[in-house]
Parts: sequence; structure tokens; C-alpha cells
Amino acid sequence: MQPLIYIDNAATSYPKPEPVYAFMDQFFRRCGVNPGRSGYDLCIEAGHLVDETRRALAAFFGGRHAERLVFGYNSTDALNLAIFGLLGPGDHAVTTTLEHNSVLRPLYHLSRDQGVEVDYVPFDARGFVDPEAIRARLRPNTRLVAVNHGSNVIGTVQPIADIGRLCRERGVPLLVDASQTAGKLAIDVEAMHVDVLVFTGHKSLFGPTGIGGMYVGEHVEIRHTRAGGTGVRSAQRDHLAEYPHRLEYGTPNLHGIAGLHAGLEWLQARGVASVHEHEMALIRRLRDGLRAIGGVTLYCQDDLTDHIGVLVFTVDAMDPADVGTMLDVDYSIATRTGLHCAPLVHEQIGTADRRGAVRFSVGPFNTEAHIDTAIGAVREIAGTRRAASARTAS
Ligand SMILES: Cc1ncc(COP(=O)(O)O)c(C=O)c1O
Repeated sequence: MQPLIYIDNAATSYPKPEPVYAFMDQFFRRCGVNPGRSGYDLCIEAGHLVDETRRALAAFFGGRHAERLVFGYNSTDALNLAIFGLLGPGDHAVTTTLEHNSVLRPLYHLSRDQGVEVDYVPFDARGFVDPEAIRARLRPNTRLVAVNHGSNVIGTVQPIADIGRLCRERGVPLLVDASQTAGKLAIDVEAMHVDVLVFTGHKSLFGPTGIGGMYVGEHVEIRHTRAGGTGVRSAQRDHLAEYPHRLEYGTPNLHGIAGLHAGLEWLQARGVASVHEHEMALIRRLRDGLRAIGGVTLYCQDDLTDHIGVLVFTVDAMDPADVGTMLDVDYSIATRTGLHCAPLVHEQIGTADRRGAVRFSVGPFNTEAHIDTAIGAVREIAGTRRAASARTAS
């Protein structure tokens, strides 16, 4: 059995840096109590870890107020809290066709159940959204612009600072889904005029699954759509209005926060830019190798500036799921196939009707050898297919 070559880091980063495993194990054993609920030493220490991680992450995203960095389970959780807490009957929202279902579905439910109107701005042939196209859709009742930062399908990175500037001019809150970019690219919520920045902990921040959250700027009011225990002012009937309690409910995922703490430390020691450069060098090599193979089509990969290390492709006359299975079974290469929870992207690039595409997404532990093996594997798969088609035709 060949060792697994994992090229599915957009789903979740794997493996995690060694200190993440070590710190989670050690912290869970030594200090796995309920943080912030009591006054004994271990409880205070657990609370400190939560506060320290909150401070470190807020600073990492350029946020001035650490308490406005709130933890939840993942991006989906934070996106639901933010979208349902910002929009209501009579409102209009603008989003893009690049979005993940964790944005599309809450918006869909709001339009189905509360009559919220939603405009979807398409991306251009290179995979980018024109900020002016967003401006053109703003209405007097637009209460939210929700934009994907880095696509989990085609890998393009949107001009958030330009979009942020125009949203700020018009007084419309900007929500950015940074699931794929948090930890890959420098993000500064102040300079980019981002009102709500959503992140997930288990991708490029190298934490475990089940931890994520958002940074909420000072100019937005997210209504409560949940309520519960916070460990603070228990006699109060309604949920606390102040941050971070405002948007945190129940016992936090302490072990997830411990892993995220160690992941962020590892990333900062190694350097965000250096990890990104490594990944982009690999994705360029992969792109160049794949586009030289007959019968392989790439999508939005011609110019890899403003990109992350994510690439999708199809092989002529083959179901992407079959390509993924062959890569897995015959070559021990892990990828993701299908629609990648982003159906509108596939509609726009023309792969929705052929059951999506195959996605490679690289991480810091991938090597040139992994990429060369992947290129060789796709070459063989596409070659076998072409030979079979030629036999059928003759
Ligand atoms: C762009 C984007 N948004 C949101 C999500 C949802 O992240 P999570 O599953 O951690 O909630 C993902 C996950 O793949 C994503 O790629």
C-alpha cells in the first residue's frame, strides 16, 4: 500500500503541525475544565487560554477589539449567526456566485421564509467579481453584502478592500467569508473595511475541526438568534448584549481553541507569506503539468496572481467522481470531487451538468514529489480514457 498523498487541504488541512497534536493532548489532560465558569486555578488557566487565543486571532485579523472576536464551531455556524442576525423581512442582500452553501443556503432560507431579496453577482471569465457590479446592485434597503474572499473551487481571491470601501461609502455592512484565506493571506479588517470576518479553524489556521468564529466590527449590530449560558450574570433573563458573550453560547470548544492556539503559533513562526509562497509554487507546477495533458481542462487558472493553492479540472468524457476514485484507489491520492458545496460556481464554469470537477488543494506539507506523482497519475488516467475512446471509434 503506497503512503497517502493528501491534496485535499481546502476541505481541511492534514496533517496538522506536530505542536497542534502535542498541545491539544497536553492541555486537555492537564486543564480540560470549563473555562470562565469558576474561580479555581485550572478554570482561570483555561479561561486565560481562551482570552489569549481571542486576542491573538483578533490581532492577526487586524481587529482593534479582542472581545469582538467570537468563537463558534466553524464558518457555517458563524455565517448562520451573522446572516440571520443581520437580515429580516423587507431587506435586500447582495452576494456572489462564488459563495459556498454556508452563505447561499441561509440566504435562500431567508428569501423563502422572510421575503428577503438577494442579488447574485457573477464573476468574470478569470474568476473575479467586479466591485462596480456590486455597487450597481445596491438599493436603499440593502442591508448586507456577503462576499467570498478565496474560492474553494477556482481559487481566485476577490478585491475585498475595494468592495469594502464602496460598502462603507454606502453604509452597507460587508460580510467576508474567509474560510479559505484565513491563515493563507494577510487580512486586515480595518484597512479592508470588513464588518464581519468569518473564519474556520481547521483549514489554514491548522486547528482541529469544530472550532471557528468571526470578528465583528464596531458598526454592525447582529441580532440574537440564539440565547443561553455564558457563565456571567446568570440572573439576567435575556442573553447578554456585550461581546464576546453576545454571540457565544454555552461551553466553548476549549480543546478546539487549544489546537487553534497552537496552529496559529506554528503558522506565525513559519510565516503566512512563506507558507503561501510554498503553496503557490506547487499549484503553478501542478497547473503547468496538468495543462500539458490532452483531454484535461482547467478552470480560471491562466493567471495565478490573486489566487490560493486550489485548482479544479475535468477529464474529457469522464465523470469527475470516477477520476477521484481512480486517483484514490490506484495512486493513493486524496482529492475532492463534485460540486464542492458551491453549486453556482460550477454552473458558471459549465461543470454543473457533468457532475462537477476534481479539486486539488495543496498545503504546507505537500512537496514537489507529491505534485509530480499527481500529474503523472492524471496523465495516465486521461491517456487510458483516450485510448479507450480511440478503440471504440475504430
Ligand atoms: C468558502 C467556504 N466557505 C465556508 C466553508 C464552510 O466551512 P466549515 O465547514 O468549516 O463550516 C467552506 C468549507 O469548505 C468554504 O470553503
